[in-house]
Amino acid sequence: MHDFQYKGNQLYCEDVSIGGLAKDVGTPFYLYSYNTIKNHFRVFNSAFSNIPHLICFAVKANSNIALLRIFVEEGGGFDIVSGGELYRALLAGADPQKIVYTGVGKTEEEIVYALKSNILMLNVESTQELFSIDRAAEETGIKAKVALRVNPDIDAKTHPYISTGLKTHKFGISMTDALEGYRLAQSLKNIEVVGIHKHIGSQITHIRPFVDALERIVAMIDILKSEGLNIRYLDIGGGLGITYKDESPPHPKELAEEIVPILKGTGCTIIFEPGRVIVGNAGILVTKVLYTKQSEGKNFMIVDAAMNDLVRPSLYGSYHSILPVSKNSDDHKIVTDVVGPICESGDFLAKDRVLPDFKKDSLAAVMSAGAYGFTMSSNYNSRPRVSEILVKGNKYFMIRRRENYEDLVRGEEIPVFMK
Ligand code: LLP
Repeated sequence: MHDFQYKGNQLYCEDVSIGGLAKDVGTPFYLYSYNTIKNHFRVFNSAFSNIPHLICFAVKANSNIALLRIFVEEGGGFDIVSGGELYRALLAGADPQKIVYTGVGKTEEEIVYALKSNILMLNVESTQELFSIDRAAEETGIKAKVALRVNPDIDAKTHPYISTGLKTHKFGISMTDALEGYRLAQSLKNIEVVGIHKHIGSQITHIRPFVDALERIVAMIDILKSEGLNIRYLDIGGGLGITYKDESPPHPKELAEEIVPILKGTGCTIIFEPGRVIVGNAGILVTKVLYTKQSEGKNFMIVDAAMNDLVRPSLYGSYHSILPVSKNSDDHKIVTDVVGPICESGDFLAKDRVLPDFKKDSLAAVMSAGAYGFTMSSNYNSRPRVSEILVKGNKYFMIRRRENYEDLVRGEEIPVFMK
C-alpha cells in the first residue's frame, strides 16, 4: 500500500495535490510520502517482532538524510556501503551501534572512519580485507567487530545485474573458504568475530531463495559454533521485492512465517537490510511533457526527466508504471515511448507503453521510483540533479533543492597555464 492516490481526477501524495505542488516547485522532482515510508518500516519491523532483531535500512536505496531520519526516529539502523553513506547516516542522527558496513572494496580510510565511529560491525568480503581491518584496528587502537559475508551460492532468480549470491559473483567469501576465513579472523588479534552475513540479491519475489540460502548459512553457524566462535549476529541482508507491474512478492509477514522458524534456532540477533521494500513504492518521479511527436507512425512523449534522473529503465530494462497527474475524461489511449532529452537512444523511461494521450505541458508520475531512483542519478549531459520533496499530511518539505549550474561545476578548475 502507498499514499499516492487519485482524489477525483487529481493525483495526490497523502493530502497534497501533485499538480499544485509542481506549480510551486517546478519539474522534474522526486516526491516521497512520509506516511508510506513509516508504515512500510513498521510493517517490516512488526513481522519479526517475535525474534530479537535490528532493521538496518540499506542506505544505497535512498540516502536523503531526511528519509534516514525517519528510520532513526523509528529505532532503525543502517546498512552502509561507503564512507559517504556512513557520513550521511551519522548526520541523520544514527546510533553507530546500529550501523553495519558491507562492501567488497572498503578502503583503509573508510575502515578507519568506521572504527572511529564505533559502528556495530564490518561485513568482510575477503581475506585481504581482514588483514586491512586488522591493521587499521591496530593503528587506531580500536578492536574491530566483524562478520564474514558468506556467499551461499544460491540463485536469487532476479535480474542478473542485481543478483549477488552465486559463487560466480564478486560478493562475499565462498562456502568452501568461509571456515578458513573465520579461523583466520579469529587468529588476528585486533579482530573480534561477532557475526555472519549474507545477501543474495535484490527484487527477489519468491521465498524459496531466502529459505535455501538461510539453511546453508545456519548449517555454517553450527560448524562455527562447534569451533568455539561466538556468532551473535546473523545478518540476512535485504532483497525483498516490490510490485512494479504484476509481480506478487511475498508480504514481509509471509516471509517471516517461513524464515523465523529457521532463524529462531540460531539464538542470534537477526539483522535485516531492507531497502527497496521500504522506500520503493513510497516515492515517485514527477515529470512534465515537453513535446509529443510522431515519427514513421511511432509516438514519442518527450519529458523533462531523463535517464540521468532515473536510470533503471535504461540500465535494467525496468518497468515503472506511468500515471497522469491529472486524469482526463477523454480516455483515448496511444502506444508511445516515453523519452528524455538526453542524446542517447537508451534514454527512455518507458517503451511501447499504452498510455493516455498526454498533451504538451501535462504532468506524468513515474511510479515506484523511491528506491534506486535519486541515488543512482547523475549529471550526465550537464543536467542539474532534480529536487526531492517529502510530503507529510497536507504539508510538503523540500528535502533537497534542485541543483543549479554553479553546482554543476563545483570543484572544477581551469589550470593556470590556460588562464
Ligand atoms: N544489503 C546489501 C549488502 C546490498 O547489496 C543491498 C542492495 C541491500 C542490502 C538492499 O537490497 P534491497 O532490499 O533494496 O533489495 N540498483 C538496483 C538494485 C541494486 C541493489 C544493490 N544491493 C536496482 O535499481 O534495482
